[in-house]
Amino acid sequence: METKLLRGELEKDLQEAAQLLRDGKTVAFPTETVYGLGANALDADAVRKIYEAKGRPANNPLNVLIYDQAQLAELVDSVPETAQKLMDAFWPGPLTLIFKCRKHAVPVCVTGGLDTIGVRMPNHPVALRLMRMAGLLVAAPSANLSGKPSPTAASHVKDDLEGRIHAIVSGGSCAVGLESTILDISGEIPTILRPGAVTQEQIEEVLGMKIKERTSDSSLVQNPGEKYAHYTPEAPVYVCDGTPEEIAAKIDRELELHRGRAGVMLSKQTLRLLQNADENLTVNLGSRDDLEQISGNLFAALRYFDQTEVEAIYTENFPEEKIGAALMNRLNKAANHKKL
Ligand code: TXA
Ligand code: MG
Repeated sequence: METKLLRGELEKDLQEAAQLLRDGKTVAFPTETVYGLGANALDADAVRKIYEAKGRPANNPLNVLIYDQAQLAELVDSVPETAQKLMDAFWPGPLTLIFKCRKHAVPVCVTGGLDTIGVRMPNHPVALRLMRMAGLLVAAPSANLSGKPSPTAASHVKDDLEGRIHAIVSGGSCAVGLESTILDISGEIPTILRPGAVTQEQIEEVLGMKIKERTSDSSLVQNPGEKYAHYTPEAPVYVCDGTPEEIAAKIDRELELHRGRAGVMLSKQTLRLLQNADENLTVNLGSRDDLEQISGNLFAALRYFDQTEVEAIYTENFPEEKIGAALMNRLNKAANHKKL
């Protein structure tokens, strides 16, 4: 299949992409979190093409993106007050809300047979204009091959999905760079299923109540996607603990042992202390004082090392404050919790 490369800043390209969506085709487009791979959520054949292109297990449900709150009426029987407060505070933005889904609102392949559905209004002009032009509810997971890090640039989507989808709409790199916070509001107490740029503290402040964060050892798997490997580059990743000096010393020892066949992705502060780094196998993630910047660079860094021959990748621990919680969640998954 030929994948059309379209430009999000061109009106006629957006029109073409919108028409493709209406015709039941798959179109990748930018959002502020990561690029999404969209198809008409009410067209089961179109939705199946998403699973096929990504190699995604059929029982891992898709979230739906909307451009107008009024579209919720097609998906849910009622909008709880909690949801309304959160939508007013954070939409458009990096928060996916899991609602009780209205029976038969979407084909079963969207929800994977669950009685709930995730919905988000993304905060990206290209995504919003495209969806509005198409006039559809758009089912959209991240636009990567299943198991790969989410794409934060159009080139990442091309690397993974060229020849497998109908079009890629480019729109620069994603400002947030980590997938949205997923908050389940279908039960009694709102529960974070996946941390993201909208933090637990921010949600609690808006709701005026304590919420839960699902711990990874919970026996009840509420976020089906958690069952599958995520964010894993080909080489093993190790997260190093300690002060920048300790981290640099530990990594220097490892780099010596690997004799130029290990990569590092570190803050600029830690990089400055490193003696043995090879420039070609080094990614500067940004400043430790700016965890948003570090988060925004993470997935591109993981993808970079897949183009090299490294045997191992070393990175550092970051404080789990604000977006740091989401950052460490993704880093620990990439590392499969391996520490140094
Ligand atoms: O920022 C984002 O959320 C991006 C952009 C493209 O919007 N999308 C994204 O989608 O990350 P995806 O499919 O890669 O991750 C969504 C996660 C999956 O792990 C899926 O299992 C989970 O949401 N999910 C979907 N529907 C669910 C539901 N009804 N209950 C619990 N988890 C659900
Ligand atoms: Mg994904």
